[in-house]
Amino acid sequence: MVFSATLPACHHSRQVKKSLGAQASRIILLCAAVLSAQARVSGPNRLSPEYTDLTKAFERFSTEPIVNVVSTTSPASQVDYCAQAAAISQNSSGIVPYHVAKGCYQHFDFDPRIRDDTIDGVRANLESFYVFYDIAKSPPPMENSDLGPVDLAQSLDAIKNTTFENDYTFHSTLGGLIAKLQDPHTTYKNMCYQQFLFIQPISTYGVFEDGRQQVKVATVLDKLDQRLSTGFVDCEVTHIDGLPAFDVVAEFAKTKSYSKDRGVRLNKAFSYLAHDRTGSSYDRYSLGTFAQRSKIPPNGTVEYKIDCTSKYDSDPASAPTVPMQSTLDLAWSALDATMAPYYDATSYRIQFCSDDSIQTVKKFVLDSASADDFSAVKARLHEGRKKAREIYRGPYASFHMLNDGTTAVFRLGTESPNKLKGENHFGFYSNIDDGFAAMEEAGATKLIIDLQNNSGGIICWGRYVLQTLFPDTVESPYIYTLKASPLAQALAKATFTYTQKTSSPYAGLVDPNTGDEVSDESWIIPGTSLPGREGYFSNKVTDRYCPAVDDVSGSNDDALFEPENIVILTNGFCGSTCAVLALQLHERYGIRTAAIGGYHGQSMAFTSFPGGAVQANNTLWVSRIQQVYQTISGDGQGQSLEKMIPQPLPANGQLAFTFRQVLSASHPDQVSEYLRMPSEFRMDYTSARFRMPSILWEDVRHEVWGVAPVPTSSSDNEEDTGEEETGETGEAGDPEDEIESAMSIGEEEEEEQQAEMESIVVVEDEESDEEMERAAEEADREDAEWMQRRFE
Ligand SMILES: *[C@@H]1O[C@H](CO)[C@@H](O)[C@H](O)[C@H]1NC(C)=O
Ligand SMILES: *[C@@H]1O[C@H](CO)[C@@H](O)[C@H](O)[C@H]1NC(C)=O
Ligand SMILES: *[C@@H]1O[C@H](CO)[C@@H](O)[C@H](O)[C@H]1NC(C)=O
Ligand SMILES: *[C@@H]1O[C@H](CO)[C@@H](O)[C@H](O)[C@H]1NC(C)=O
Ligand SMILES: *[C@@H]1O[C@H](CO)[C@@H](O)[C@H](O)[C@H]1NC(C)=O
Repeated sequence: MVFSATLPACHHSRQVKKSLGAQASRIILLCAAVLSAQARVSGPNRLSPEYTDLTKAFERFSTEPIVNVVSTTSPASQVDYCAQAAAISQNSSGIVPYHVAKGCYQHFDFDPRIRDDTIDGVRANLESFYVFYDIAKSPPPMENSDLGPVDLAQSLDAIKNTTFENDYTFHSTLGGLIAKLQDPHTTYKNMCYQQFLFIQPISTYGVFEDGRQQVKVATVLDKLDQRLSTGFVDCEVTHIDGLPAFDVVAEFAKTKSYSKDRGVRLNKAFSYLAHDRTGSSYDRYSLGTFAQRSKIPPNGTVEYKIDCTSKYDSDPASAPTVPMQSTLDLAWSALDATMAPYYDATSYRIQFCSDDSIQTVKKFVLDSASADDFSAVKARLHEGRKKAREIYRGPYASFHMLNDGTTAVFRLGTESPNKLKGENHFGFYSNIDDGFAAMEEAGATKLIIDLQNNSGGIICWGRYVLQTLFPDTVESPYIYTLKASPLAQALAKATFTYTQKTSSPYAGLVDPNTGDEVSDESWIIPGTSLPGREGYFSNKVTDRYCPAVDDVSGSNDDALFEPENIVILTNGFCGSTCAVLALQLHERYGIRTAAIGGYHGQSMAFTSFPGGAVQANNTLWVSRIQQVYQTISGDGQGQSLEKMIPQPLPANGQLAFTFRQVLSASHPDQVSEYLRMPSEFRMDYTSARFRMPSILWEDVRHEVWGVAPVPTSSSDNEEDTGEEETGETGEAGDPEDEIESAMSIGEEEEEEQQAEMESIVVVEDEESDEEMERAAEEADREDAEWMQRRFE
């Protein structure tokens, strides 16, 4: 009710967005906040009364004393910052000052019992099931990585021996340890401390121009700081907190877990133009992880020194709207991402920090602005070159033709189910089919597969793309092994010995030699050893069959493109299902690869974290393990395993981990996760390539096939210079839909422990592919908000 009054204003704002480009970011942010708030009471994010009615929430806990809510020692708890956050959030569309959010996080006292139970739970899971547990301790040397050894057993012990300042510090220390694995499928976070998202009002991108690495302004959120305007866009950020800006971002990225490749980590810290998953014709800039964090940033403000001289020098016609040089101290803001009401620290703790607390958070669109915002910039940068013609666009992928009439671009944004309901019932398969049909009709003979910032999704969807490109790809291209720990072996054996009430994690795998599902434990007992690895692993297994792949299977004569006419373009952040797909294309068919961004002159991997498969919901995982274990607990051998069984993590802790490892197609004894494959071609971002993908694509074509871009005369260039938007012609649809979409897609939270990856989603018990897709969407519905923040 409260919010319905604000909705018309939202609509109005959005309708004028195209002409008021500079305001678009602000508008999207605000509408998102309003709509998300509304979603608490109705709409797709509806929660059970258990959470929305605080009285009921208290009832859930009435039998359980709430410990340590009020501290008598810590000065922070003199003031109830959570109460302040709740009040301010109501009044300010969910924007909370830095120190208030920080104070709320630091309110809760350290509890050694939570520490011990958490460490025991994390350890039990990782010891028996984390497939890289051994190799993490002595990783092979990898070029341009900064991957260090992580002895999990010892490090977890050390944390267990430590007394922390408060509860927050304990959980973030543990998260930081897991992040050192640089395996984004493997993360620890506590949902208690995911309820605020810290953002900067400015986001930056990295380029190599004029012979040096530079940092530039990507977007501004003037709503958060009135001094900002789009006049700053594309100006150089020379210094951050008094130090050279590039070094500061590089230093920040160094310790993050997004990838084992240094260049990829850097790319991820910077802003990026992301494919819009609603299928709308707008792409959106994401803030990048430097400007958006879930950990409390060390200081309340960041000082930016911004120099616009070269921007305005290169374009004397445009009158500067901002000072040539500015020094701005910009404050962090916290966005309230809570999905359940709270009024003070006590209710905050009940709702978000307890064993039964809500595991989901709201997500925001922070992507600022449509391409219209930058039309002036683009006019300056495009140098008469013409934008590619978009020939097909859906929520998962868009297809373009360069103006040579032969080179097509297949931009695949994700293999993860669209989070939208109601709108865009496009299936993934039809998006791919229709796009390939459009490329064929357009007469494409060369193909750039743009996988920048694709963080994966459903494994069968990646398979479908592989099969579409190469119709006679073998039936089981992805081969895995699992950790054959004593507990894993016992559970696998129980799976096939006793009737299981639950679906065992060890059921449903397929023997790649026969194509049949494994039906006894011989694939994991006794197990095999791998060169250079400690402990035992299962024999090779593969996924269940992907039925939809049949529809596109055939002879490679049916392939639209020859392998030498295909190139993969990534920013290295092609993870999980995307990584597995790209690696298969490269290893099986010799598809060449180009990586963009990173450090100038350094080789860069074209994929990250192929992993294998992730167990993302520990609550579910532990309950399944325990149920399978129960079937053997009576039979003698169960006893000795008892202490290895993981217990649910306390206080809303969340653990995800890789539990099977995918093997390289060209080096079948090596796990892809630790096998570095650098790209063949290396390119740098420039402002033009960052803003206008068409320019990048032409430059890729030039680099790979030596076909130089042909500038068109400006009169010829009847298309506007704005790159990706087709705002005038695009079917923007009903304004409300787009806002709604904006709300539910938007920016992901990005954090150290890089949960933001899309995992390879393991879908249970799929009968048919259609059903599987539905199942994925069902699963998605349940944990949508949580996944949305965790993954991507
Ligand atoms: C919220 O807004 C109301 C009405 O404008 C005002 O009375 C109240 O003091 C505000 N609360 C906070 C915490 O700003
Ligand atoms: C933890 O503490 C115990 C007893 O104080 C000590 O023996 C052990 O070495 C410590 N472990 C680590 C990893 O610090
Ligand atoms: C953060 O603040 C502290 C103390 O206020 C200061 O010493 C430190 O230099 C600041 N760090 C940065 C990166 O500005
Ligand atoms: C990556 O792409 C997703 C969409 O697939 C987008 O939501 C997200 O903001 C992008 N993130 C970055 C850092 O590019
Ligand atoms: C994990 O699974 C449990 C049990 O099915 C479910 O209640 C919970 O909501 C899930 N959590 C997330 C974050 O999806």
